[in-house]
Amino acid sequence: MEGVRRVTTQTFRQLKDASIPIAMLTAYDYTMARILDRAGVDAILVGDSASNVVAGHETTLPITLEHMIYHAQCVVRAVKRALVIVDLPFGAYQGNSKEALISSIRVMKEAGAHAVKIEGGTAVVPTMERILQAGIPVMGHLGLTPQSIYRFGTYKVRAREPEEADQLRQDALALEKAGCFAIVLEKIPAKLAGEISASLSIPTIGIGAGNACDGQILVINDALGLNDDFHPRFVRRYANLIDSISDSVKNYVEDVRSHSFPSSEESY
Ligand code: KIV
Repeated sequence: MEGVRRVTTQTFRQLKDASIPIAMLTAYDYTMARILDRAGVDAILVGDSASNVVAGHETTLPITLEHMIYHAQCVVRAVKRALVIVDLPFGAYQGNSKEALISSIRVMKEAGAHAVKIEGGTAVVPTMERILQAGIPVMGHLGLTPQSIYRFGTYKVRAREPEEADQLRQDALALEKAGCFAIVLEKIPAKLAGEISASLSIPTIGIGAGNACDGQILVINDALGLNDDFHPRFVRRYANLIDSISDSVKNYVEDVRSHSFPSSEESY
């Protein structure tokens, strides 16, 4: 990986201008981040989805800033090329913009992240501006914002109604004006996501938002088939690791029980 050109927030803009889709995935640990980086993903999100897929919580709300910094440190250590963006978790930025800035500085300083992501629209613009003034790149996140699940009450598609769609258009413009370098659009109608993507000069990254976004992101555990109780239509499974891992473990258990492992070649 000597001499590898790092992906930056400017690269994001250049990719959009060149109509080259941006490929993102989440990662939470060193081993996975190293594989994703070497395989050519443009950016890795250390998502607060770690709360679900790593820690086993029902929502993203319980994960703490300390947990996120730990996951981010593991990922940053592995990455040579991709841009590493870290979610500010619930409770680390909503209090006031100073708290948000302190959380962002911790993520950048202690983990060596390249950018932070914050959920929310116009209401979080002053917070984003304060972080941006410190020189920290900010990614926005609109549509289904999982940290607000108890307000939504459901994980259904957002912005189907004209009023919410209008608000989303305004929020996207406000985030671009504030200086965000990109915006995640989660679980909104493809037509609306396409319209918003065309109206912005910064890239949109879709998850359940159709093919007209400037890039796509999936949670790595979903993409690799590590999650057999989550089947939303926006997930494409690129592997079935549950079955591969399960078969491998069954073989290992059998080999241990039958004394076939370790063999003499596997012994000293
Ligand atoms: O936490 C996460 O993984 C995310 C993506 C789903 C965009 O925010």
